[in-house]
Amino acid sequence: MGGLSPQRKCGLAVLISGRGSNLQSIIDACRIDNFPAEIKVVISDKLDAYGLVRAQNSNIPTRIVLRENHPNKREFEKEILSVIDSLNIDLICLAGFMRILSPDFISPWTGRIINIHPSLLPKHKGLNTYARAIEAGDTESGCTVHYVTSGVDEGEIILQKHVPLFPTDTPESLATRILEQEHLAYPEAIRLISSSKL
Ligand code: GRF
Repeated sequence: MGGLSPQRKCGLAVLISGRGSNLQSIIDACRIDNFPAEIKVVISDKLDAYGLVRAQNSNIPTRIVLRENHPNKREFEKEILSVIDSLNIDLICLAGFMRILSPDFISPWTGRIINIHPSLLPKHKGLNTYARAIEAGDTESGCTVHYVTSGVDEGEIILQKHVPLFPTDTPESLATRILEQEHLAYPEAIRLISSSKL
């Protein structure tokens, strides 16, 4: 991203598998004057991901890349990369993309691929973060935007948002509280990274 002129926006590829509420928060942020990034493509590995509808409603190009249409993970990832490589992308944003990418995919994008995770990393990597935070007796939780490396949920932290965790919380109530913060955190992280690179 070095050497970009000030007018040029950071080109994003957003990868999703489902609901796409974080994608929506990025779409909304990109509408703000002077936001330093723009979404060039939304890529889904699921045909029925609602995030595809959100992208289409905002006239953002979409691509569907299905694992089952490829003989192996390598070919599947190659198709995603070929979409990304054809579009002058500066930053890949994983937003509820429910697949673990291989080191071959990630390596060339080191420092230019980020993810959002619903816990205060390094606590509660992986799935079921809400139930695990409750079971652990945590008194707070939150979300983390971090760089993606080949270790799952292990890359350098860009920013975190904290929320209280109450004794009465269920995984659902905690998820709702964290999601509100995710929708602030992801655009904020993109702004931070894009501005520093531009
Ligand atoms: C979010 O909770 C995010 O932290 C996790 O997957 C969920 C995606 O939600 N990685 P959405 O599709 O953005 O609504």
